Amino acid sequence: MNFVDTHCHLTDEKFSDDLTEVYHRAENSGVIKIINFGATLDDSFRVVEFAKKFSGMFAGVGIHPEEIENFVENNSAEKIFNLAKENNVSAIGEIGLDYHWEKDSEKRILQQKIFIEQLDIARQLNLPVCVHEREAHGDALKILKNHAHGLRGVLHCFSGSLEIAREVWKMGWLIGIDGPVTFKNSAKLPEIVKAAPREMILLETDAPYLAPTPHRGKRNEPSYLVDIAKKISEIRGESLEEIAEYTTKNAEILYSLK
Ligand code: NI
Repeated sequence: MNFVDTHCHLTDEKFSDDLTEVYHRAENSGVIKIINFGATLDDSFRVVEFAKKFSGMFAGVGIHPEEIENFVENNSAEKIFNLAKENNVSAIGEIGLDYHWEKDSEKRILQQKIFIEQLDIARQLNLPVCVHEREAHGDALKILKNHAHGLRGVLHCFSGSLEIAREVWKMGWLIGIDGPVTFKNSAKLPEIVKAAPREMILLETDAPYLAPTPHRGKRNEPSYLVDIAKKISEIRGESLEEIAEYTTKNAEILYSLK
């Protein structure tokens, strides 16, 4: 049984002491491919380096909405564009909107502008997109409808309603399911997981964040993806093998993983 962790951050300093062990534990759990996402410019360069070093590791490059401060000054758009041409870069991301942490309306507008700019990079390079969206469902969907023509992607760590999920699926985009699906207070997630067409979900850990039960509260890592898959298997009444098979296929198709 093979799995793909379609979203994590192994460049986080929480992995600086034991990254090789973490990588091998993932491999031994069947998590044979990992997509590591950048949040800043430096981080994006690092995920590309990691992808060169570890087999089965791929990179997503982009500037996270909480990290856009010096986007223009740093010439970030051009740097991300050039970096994204490297081998092993499978996606633009994570990019998007975060209104949970950003309450200032002008800065939210700046987030939208930079989100659109990075969607354009994805289009020019024909790369899929990994979107971070928190408490910004309406604006994020509006931007995707108006500026993501011809693009495919995923709303990672999906936190919206079933209604929003259905809109996302209608656009041909996928949703990413993470550790919170295993939490007792997972709210609408089980209902969404149950309703999801097989082709429309991806598994992800978002490590080091959001460790699934029974690791909740600890550092998350790609090998814990299996706990998320087990919960999904329980919710959907499908075998773990089936879940592994179609979510791996979904990831390989969306991100052109080889
Ligand atoms: Ni993330």
